[in-house]
Amino acid sequence: MSKYLKHLVAFASRLLYYAHKHKLSFDKAFQYVVRDMKDKLKGYSLRRFYEVSWRITLDYYKLRFLERKIYGANKGYRRLVMLWLSFFGEKYLEDLKEYNRVRRKYVKSLPKHIVFDEIIASVEDRIEKLAIEKSYPLWFTKLIVERIGYIEASKLLDAMNKEYYWIRINTLKIDYDKALKLLEAEDVVFEVDEDLWYMLKVIDYKKPLYQLELLKQGYIITQDKASAMVVEALKPKPNEKFLDACAAPGIKASLIMQLTDNKADLILIDISRNRLNSMVKLLRHYGVDMNRVEILLADSIHRITRSRVDKALLDAPCSSSGTIPRDPAVKLHLDDISWIKRFPKIQYGLLNTVVEEAEETIYATCSLIPWEGEEIIEKIVKNKPNIILEEPLRKGHPGYSTYSIAAKVRRFFPHIHRTEGFFISKIIHQP
Ligand SMILES: C[S@@+](CC[C@H](N)C(=O)[O-])C[C@H]1O[C@@H](n2cnc3c(N)ncnc32)[C@H](O)[C@@H]1O
Repeated sequence: MSKYLKHLVAFASRLLYYAHKHKLSFDKAFQYVVRDMKDKLKGYSLRRFYEVSWRITLDYYKLRFLERKIYGANKGYRRLVMLWLSFFGEKYLEDLKEYNRVRRKYVKSLPKHIVFDEIIASVEDRIEKLAIEKSYPLWFTKLIVERIGYIEASKLLDAMNKEYYWIRINTLKIDYDKALKLLEAEDVVFEVDEDLWYMLKVIDYKKPLYQLELLKQGYIITQDKASAMVVEALKPKPNEKFLDACAAPGIKASLIMQLTDNKADLILIDISRNRLNSMVKLLRHYGVDMNRVEILLADSIHRITRSRVDKALLDAPCSSSGTIPRDPAVKLHLDDISWIKRFPKIQYGLLNTVVEEAEETIYATCSLIPWEGEEIIEKIVKNKPNIILEEPLRKGHPGYSTYSIAAKVRRFFPHIHRTEGFFISKIIHQP
C-alpha cells in the first residue's frame, strides 16, 4: 500500500477511535488526529481525509454489520476502515492509481466472500434492515419507528445522513443587504428563509464556509434554523432580563441580543470554565454589548438568581441525536446507551430548578429521543404545582403523538423542516 493510502487508513481509524471512545465531535476528533499525525500529513491537502473520514463515520453501523458477517465478531477500527475502502470507497478513491489493486488484494484476503446487497437482502426483520441500511444503532432505529412509523422513520434517518447548512446574518455587526451581496460575491448560493428573515439556507458554495472572511469576522454565524427557533420561542424584547442556564458557547444568547438590538439583560450560566471562556470571546466577537451581560460559572441545578428574571432558557445538555446532519460522530456516541440514559435525570433536575427562576421558561434539546423531550415535560407537569404549558411556536410539528402533552410542544425534523432535530417547549410557572 502506498504511503498516502496507509496514512488515510490510519487517519480514519484514529478518528473513529476518538469519536467513539472519547465521545468527541467529528470536527474535534479531526483536529486531534491532525495534531497526532502532523509529521505524516505534511504536504497533503486534508480535504479527502475529511470527506472519507466523514463517510466512514456515517457508515459505522453498516460496517460493523459487514464485519460481523465476514469475521463473525467485531474488532478494531482499522478493519472497519479497510472494509469501507473495499466495499464503499470507489466513488471517493478511484482516482488513486493503486486503489483498485489494494482493494482487490484485501477482498481476496477476507475469510468469506460477500456481496453487500445480498447479505442485506437476507436480513428478515425490516427494522433491523433499516438500521443497517441507514447505519444507526438498532435501539435508536426501533425507538424512532415506534414514534413516527416505518416510512417516516426511513425518511428521517435518510435525511440525517445528509448535511444541512444554515447561516445567520449577524445584524449586530453588518448591514443585512450588504451581507447578502458579499455572500453572492463569494459564490455562496442560498435561500432566504420564509419564517426567519435573518436565516439563510445554504444550497451551494465554492469555498468551504469556514474559509469565508464574513464568517471569520463574525458577520455571519453558522447556526441551524431550529436552534434559532428556540430563541424565537422566547420572543425577546428590549429591556427584558433573561437567564440562560446552560449558555455556552453563547450562540442563542447572541441571538437574543441581536433580536433586541443589544438591549436585553442576560445572566449566562455554564458549568464548564473552558466553554465559558470561549463564550466570552465569541460574544465579544459577535458584537454583543457585554455591559448588559453577567456571566457565572455554576451548576444550574442550584438556584442562582435572587430575584426572578423575565424569561429563562434551558437549552439542556443532551444526546445531541438531532445534530447528526452536522456531526456524524454523534452516531457513534449513540452506541453507548448507558451514557445516553444519564441525560434525562440531569435535564429534569435542571428544569425543576430553572422553572422557579422565571415566569416563563423555554426548555429545549437538540434531540430526537422522547426521554429528553416529551417525557421530561410530562413529568414536570405531573410533579410540580402551578405549571401550565403553552405552545412555544406556531411553526414546527407537535411532539410525538403517544404523549399527552404532544399538542403543546414542538419538534423540528431534518426530513420535514430541513433543520436539525429539535424539541422545544414553553412552561409557565407561577409560584
Ligand atoms: C446544548 S449546550 C448549550 C448551547 C448554548 N445554549 C448555545 O446556544 O450556544 C449545553 C451546555 O450546558 C452546559 N451544562 C451542562 N450541565 C450543566 C449544569 N449542570 N449547569 C450549567 N451548565 C451545564 C454544558 O457545559 C454546555 O455548554
